[in-house]
Amino acid sequence: MAPLPISSIRVGKIEDVQELIKSKPNKVPERFIRDANERGGLVSLKTHLHQPIPVIDLSKLSKPHTNDDFVFEILKLSQACEDWGFFQVINHGLEVDVVDDIEKVAKEFFEMPLEEKQKYPMEPGTVQGYGQAFIFSEDQKLDWCNMFALGVHPPSILNPKLWPSKPARFSESLKGYSKEISKLCKRLLTYIAISLGLKKETFEEMFGEAVQAVRMNYYPPCSSPDLVLGLSPHSDGSALTVLQQSKDSCVGLQILKDNTWVPVLPLPNALVINIGDTVEVLTNGKYKSVEHRAVTNRERERLTIVTFYAPNYEVEIEPMGELVDDETNPCKYRSYNHGDYSYHYISNKLQGKKSLDFAKILN
Ligand code: OGA
Ligand code: NI
Repeated sequence: MAPLPISSIRVGKIEDVQELIKSKPNKVPERFIRDANERGGLVSLKTHLHQPIPVIDLSKLSKPHTNDDFVFEILKLSQACEDWGFFQVINHGLEVDVVDDIEKVAKEFFEMPLEEKQKYPMEPGTVQGYGQAFIFSEDQKLDWCNMFALGVHPPSILNPKLWPSKPARFSESLKGYSKEISKLCKRLLTYIAISLGLKKETFEEMFGEAVQAVRMNYYPPCSSPDLVLGLSPHSDGSALTVLQQSKDSCVGLQILKDNTWVPVLPLPNALVINIGDTVEVLTNGKYKSVEHRAVTNRERERLTIVTFYAPNYEVEIEPMGELVDDETNPCKYRSYNHGDYSYHYISNKLQGKKSLDFAKILN
């Protein structure tokens, strides 16, 4: 997938948030200050009354399919995907070492001097490297976040020049971690298929050689967290997203449910999973790709390691026949090439669920 022509994009000066708070800890430059309606506007006082997002115990899904625990957990999964588009998984089988290690190297990466990180710059219009993605103009507001993103698989999307030589163990750790996350995604997709009454290999067969990318988001503390956003509201273009929050992470991720921003409370040893746009289309809207954002904290930094798992760019996507019924549930999305969707996604700023208009059939 070719990046956009760099010459056509003027993004102005993008200040590095970590450097900014080192020199002026109490200053929030204008370019980070959101309009009032973008900040707290939608946060309802009801927030704390909401039930927390569902928790799925993957050890129960390893049991025989006739076991009551399995059946109950599959139902829970199906409800989670329909009602929330988000859930946390516990007993997911990832080794503690693998999870700890990626967190450690990611932290070490962000703690390096700016000159070192800038050896791997994210060029305007591209989404890999160190910097801020999805910025397309000089007046666009910036997120209170430093990002480092890399394509991991297949080899055609991996850009070796952007894989850092320091910390020394970074590449090895990320490769090991990504292998485990790929296994987890494959496993989750089999359960999702079962929960839809489909044969368990459905997604693996459809996706071909899956595309996997990782984004590490580092949210420094902000003296005025109410004025800024850590990450603009968006839905993910992936099929599934796996989000790891650093240990002792404060609350930062919020999802939009019934017009209210609901915080996702970090659970120890859990991973947050969300349904991406691709699964929403494939299930004709039954499983939702839910809008989410990140907010910042006055005192504490936060680090997340986010993996996007998606079909191969060659794959044609359209709602699956089993989930369309001309009379009761007509087809809501047109058919499209996933590579074209990915290109559309990365060439527009993050704006809620707007990307998916690309595929919507409007009545
Ligand atoms: C993302 C994302 C949320 C977070 O990277 O797509 O939604 O809390 N991140 O970092
Ligand atoms: Ni996201």
